[in-house]
Amino acid sequence: MSDKQIKSADVSGNIYCPIVLVGLMGAGKSTIGRRLAAALNLQFIDSDVEIVEAAGCSISDIFEGYGEPIFRDLEQRVIMRLMTGAPCVVATGGGAFIQPDVRKAISEKGISVWLKADLPVLVERVSRRDNRPLLKTGDKNEILQKLIDERYPIYAEADITIDSNFGSHESVVEEIIKALKEWWSKNG
Ligand code: S3P
Repeated sequence: MSDKQIKSADVSGNIYCPIVLVGLMGAGKSTIGRRLAAALNLQFIDSDVEIVEAAGCSISDIFEGYGEPIFRDLEQRVIMRLMTGAPCVVATGGGAFIQPDVRKAISEKGISVWLKADLPVLVERVSRRDNRPLLKTGDKNEILQKLIDERYPIYAEADITIDSNFGSHESVVEEIIKALKEWWSKNG
């Protein structure tokens, strides 16, 4: 990828940079990301899946066995690598964009899309699975509200913000593609 191609697309719709979905647990990053990648004909990569493959154990096992700082270090390495690779759609874990170095790499090399959702929607979605270590330590409502207070001002630095509260997956994907085109027409 040349410097000129960074963060850009061309008139034929060829995309030259990673599109990076950020946002809290339950915002729909993986579900929407997979569909967005298919619609754009790009590879889909889930950074948490990459971390699990690199570590050879689950995210919960990493948190329990080695602690959160080791998880954050792995997360940073995986995302740094993805930011210098081929164009793709990346779904990041909720804490990734909060790390300043990760955020800097994403903002230099990729287009960030914040999938924003309200507390009740997040709570409902995360309650479907019990695999998130940060939510195992107390009341999900309280933990997610605290994360909203801490992280939403930081997610707001993303290039694009999309409301992921309502609508079908397809309509959210369409909205993202529309917003990407607008972003490229202004910044590309
Ligand atoms: C985390 C979110 C999780 C996962 C880890 C930490 C966070 O990913 O990376 O449990 O700090 O918000 P999802 O946002 O995909 O659930």
